Amino acid sequence: MTALDLSSPVAVVGTGTMGQGIAQVALVAGHPVRLYDAAPGRAQAAADAIGARLDRLVAKDRLTAADRDAARARLLPAESLAELADCALVVEAVLERLDVKQELLRELEGIVDEDCLLATNTSSLSVTAIGGALSDPGRFVGLHFFNPAPLLPLVEVVSGFATDVTYATRAYETARAWGKTPVACADTPGFIVNRIARPFYAEAFAVHEAQGADPATIDAVLRECGGFKMGAFELTDLIGQDVNESVTHSVWQAFFNDVRFTPSLAQRRLVESGRLGRKSGHGWYDYAEDAERDEPHTAERQQQPAYVVAEGDLGPASELLPLIREAGIPVREEEEDHGTRLVLPGGGQLALADGQTSVEFRDVVYFDLAVDYRRATRIAVSASQDTSPGTLTEAIGLFQAIGKDVSVIGDVPGMIVARTVARIVDLAHDAVAKGVATVEDIDTAMRLGVNYPMGPFEWSRRLGRGWAYDLLDELHVREPSGRYAPSLALYRHAYASDKREGSTS
Ligand SMILES: NC(=O)c1ccc[n+]([C@@H]2O[C@H](COP(=O)([O-])OP(=O)(O)OC[C@H]3O[C@@H](n4cnc5c(N)ncnc54)[C@H](O)[C@@H]3O)[C@@H](O)[C@H]2O)c1
Repeated sequence: MTALDLSSPVAVVGTGTMGQGIAQVALVAGHPVRLYDAAPGRAQAAADAIGARLDRLVAKDRLTAADRDAARARLLPAESLAELADCALVVEAVLERLDVKQELLRELEGIVDEDCLLATNTSSLSVTAIGGALSDPGRFVGLHFFNPAPLLPLVEVVSGFATDVTYATRAYETARAWGKTPVACADTPGFIVNRIARPFYAEAFAVHEAQGADPATIDAVLRECGGFKMGAFELTDLIGQDVNESVTHSVWQAFFNDVRFTPSLAQRRLVESGRLGRKSGHGWYDYAEDAERDEPHTAERQQQPAYVVAEGDLGPASELLPLIREAGIPVREEEEDHGTRLVLPGGGQLALADGQTSVEFRDVVYFDLAVDYRRATRIAVSASQDTSPGTLTEAIGLFQAIGKDVSVIGDVPGMIVARTVARIVDLAHDAVAKGVATVEDIDTAMRLGVNYPMGPFEWSRRLGRGWAYDLLDELHVREPSGRYAPSLALYRHAYASDKREGSTS
């Protein structure tokens, strides 16, 4: 056990939103905690605010009054950094600026004991770069908590190039002893969560910019079909468009303007015009009291088709067949080497989004990927101007017959959920190949950090080898900017290991 002893004092420097949350976590775990902030009076104000939060925990029976009193007695605001000399861990949560953090750490290094663990809560700066200011960067780690720190379990424990494994392990075990779920990760832009989550926002904005659908429809499809807790538009309105854009921007810049992380022009306009989301009363949505709520597009009721023919293996959409049968619609299954489609009575076809567009085929309607077709309450379908109206009507009627609301969107390749999930899966595979984190830690981080219905690798397994690669490969052909180019890691996962398995069988 290498976690810090509970009798060791912990200091938090910078007692704003994050500093207060982190201090509360260490305090409730049992440590004596020192608070320091450069702004006069702010450390005391933070101690008062934490005390008030402990009172609320007592009122909710989540903390005993005796434990609250003991915790309060262990919490001490400091008036100078020199008062942190006996701390075994100092976490800085000051302004997100490299020069400010470096200067602070340089000063701290001259005050604390040589074995004191130094940590940063930075979300966008490099841990290696910040640690460059120290004469001993071996004891410096990233401890990236999520807001609100007392409630969210995830902590990314980031090792810079110079971080000594002893100190990284101490940080990891301490976070665990505090009741958190730590994940280990390397020092790369966005760490795990802020790197792999980028397509969730970017693809929703891209579909909107391509005139594929309005924000309310895209949000509803992400929630009700994709299984995400919130859609990308409502979520960024909650986070703040400026805050979300600045994370995207910093990851993009840190990757030397890698096209896979290109920020959204539409989001730039929102930020420039002051439409920052809920906090400014208007973002993608209007939050004025008298504003009309934007509703998702939902197709009118259509007749269900008399039967369907299933050609080939529907892959991740195979679950649809029992659902269609349960709705009383006969399904005839036919072996097919090339097609993986449902053929409707009028002769038109229904296919799972695969990165191609409806206009490339005669009379086809695409439908989006669902996290779980049984539980999904909405399905998006897309058709082109060449799709016959009868085929679209039959497709809508089929999904309505199995209990789904249907949103008709534009002919956007990869639709909404399918392209989003494929890109998240790709970035996850790429991150493992680049040594950012393990498969298990990435799945944990994405479930706990951004509440995804499942981790990218679990999703990847469910979708089947090759599904995400093939979809991105098709998208890349249609938009050859490099944004959708599947990674070598995903290619290896999709095909190289198939051959390996084939050769050993
Ligand atoms: N807010 C979030 O959602 C979030 C999430 C994860 C990580 N972070 C990171 O946590 C850090 C703090 O963010 P925040 O949102 O709590 O900011 P904040 O503005 O709420 O608080 C920052 C505090 O640091 C103090 N400060 C500034 N310079 C200082 C210095 N040199 N010495 C001591 N105190 C100083 C300020 O007076 C202020 O009280 C940043 O690095 C940020 O990137 C923020």
